[in-house]
Amino acid sequence: MCGIIAYIGNKEAYPILIKGLQRLEYRGYDSAGIALMNGSLNIYKKRGKVQELVDFAKHQNISGSSGIGHTRWATHGKPDDINAHPHCSSDGRLTLVHNGIIENYSPIKHALEKKGHTFKSQTDTEVLVHLIEEVQKQDNLPIEEAVRVALSKVVGAYAIVVIDKNDPDKLVAARKGSPLVVGIGDDEFFLASDGTPIVEYTKKVVYLEDEHIATMHRNGKYEIRTIDNEVHTPFVDELNMEIERMEKGGYDYFMLKEIYEQPTTIQDAMRGRINAEEGWVRLGGMDDHVDIVKDAQRFIILGCGTSWHAGLIAEYLFEDLARIPVEVEYASEFRYRNPVITDKDVVIAISQSGETADTYAALELAKKNGALLYGIVNVVGSSIARLTDAGSYIHCGPEIGVASTKAFTAQVTLLTLMALQIGHERGTISDEYFKKLLIELENIPEKVKKVLDSNDKIKYIAAEIKDSPNAMYLGRGYNFPIALEGALKLKEISYIHAEGYPAAEMKHGPIALIDENMPVIVIATNKSLNDKIVSNIQEVKARKGVVLAIVTEGDNEISRIADYTIEIPDTEEPFTPLLSVIPLQLLSYYIAVMRGCNVDQPRNLAKSVTVE
Ligand code: G6P
Repeated sequence: MCGIIAYIGNKEAYPILIKGLQRLEYRGYDSAGIALMNGSLNIYKKRGKVQELVDFAKHQNISGSSGIGHTRWATHGKPDDINAHPHCSSDGRLTLVHNGIIENYSPIKHALEKKGHTFKSQTDTEVLVHLIEEVQKQDNLPIEEAVRVALSKVVGAYAIVVIDKNDPDKLVAARKGSPLVVGIGDDEFFLASDGTPIVEYTKKVVYLEDEHIATMHRNGKYEIRTIDNEVHTPFVDELNMEIERMEKGGYDYFMLKEIYEQPTTIQDAMRGRINAEEGWVRLGGMDDHVDIVKDAQRFIILGCGTSWHAGLIAEYLFEDLARIPVEVEYASEFRYRNPVITDKDVVIAISQSGETADTYAALELAKKNGALLYGIVNVVGSSIARLTDAGSYIHCGPEIGVASTKAFTAQVTLLTLMALQIGHERGTISDEYFKKLLIELENIPEKVKKVLDSNDKIKYIAAEIKDSPNAMYLGRGYNFPIALEGALKLKEISYIHAEGYPAAEMKHGPIALIDENMPVIVIATNKSLNDKIVSNIQEVKARKGVVLAIVTEGDNEISRIADYTIEIPDTEEPFTPLLSVIPLQLLSYYIAVMRGCNVDQPRNLAKSVTVE
């Protein structure tokens, strides 16, 4: 949440900052702002998208070879020009951008007000820059030292970059809980919330660690110190990203591009990890821990949003194939309960961004209690990837649309591989069934392509139901989490109220909502529960509900009773979620487009949720 970009070097900073903000816009789009050093310090900030800032800046002085930029997801203070970052000290000497929340901002603010500070905005960030100013003035400290001392008084999460007008050949950055990457170029530095704005300039990066403060000098030197003032020798990593994967590539929206990438991304998640012909599955991340994982007394799966839905599918997979008891938890609830965790538990964290604050904090709690932490993460080098003891990257490339699509199917693919490997090692699935499943899993990318061929039909159905104020999604077994995911996709991008339910639970309440205006989307592809689903559909039809059924190819019985059907190819039951979710993603996409919504940047949402 909130995106930060900064540059210091010999190039013009403005184009780097703007392009960077556009890349980071998925992290928040309530306002955008920049500060440019050019003898004097010019600050421009605007409510709304980065484009508003660009239009405004056209008529301003945009020269300068260092600067900082920010795209905001509002926490303290409404989205407007005043609350937009950067924020300045009282005398205008210091300027700062911030991602995170300063939890003790209120007492600090009162103390500063007593010393004569006045505040223009409602933000916690402005309090932080005034605090740094106060510390700096008291002892006439260099900026990096003032930042360090001020941060030791702060409770909360932050990634910050600060400019001191009196020390213009330096940028100072720090982080705790919110991500920050330092890109090292030739006598120049880039700083950003993730690697996407940096990769086209340099691949050499340092992932800043918690409570570390970095000082970048225009002459190409840099230094990192801990908050306790010890010098830290950084590890220089290599960014592994392709720029094309961050462009829309001819699609109207990133979300549509990402939906269409799924045959490839599912394949990428499996690459080198499965060989049906030779009959093996192997996740490299498990190599050193295989005994602990396979002998775990329990798996605890943690995630938020769509990643939590992937976890729910994993519960079916692990219990079904590996016979290990599983609990799937919202990280935000888990961390504030008093959960029972032991060193015999394996905690699996699922996170696309690897930065979700609740998931991270829940993992820290599990770590303290001695559980092995296993990460299923997309963003390489992210905080969760670094905190976990072991893990597997899902390798689906940057996901930019706020509504998760390809990351979800890649997560489910990875969890499927994990369940297969563990099940095989534990002997809970027969060799014959194991082989059959491997062969079928390798066919899934082709089958996803076939589902995508239903695009026109899905578009037609979207037009038919786009004006409904509500929608209900029903599924059983492996497809119950898909009902939840389908409903989440619809509500987050089209703003239609939607609920997902286990199909059999409908009669305990939601059935009261059904009438001729209620579209009911039934995911009816489970062979084992087909008869039961047919009965649920009949119950909806008897109350005049409009039924869209996702069915297995050739299922004429359901096609006869449903108003609309979309077919997916036949597959093994544990793999149906990988196919049945695709039409639901497309359905939400088209409904949202037809309702005039900004699909990639739905209101109030952000992709990387680094606040609680
Ligand atoms: C946000 C995003 C969702 C995502 C969730 C968890 O709500 O909009 O798409 O599923 O965060 O994020 P993570 O990065 O941990 O998977």
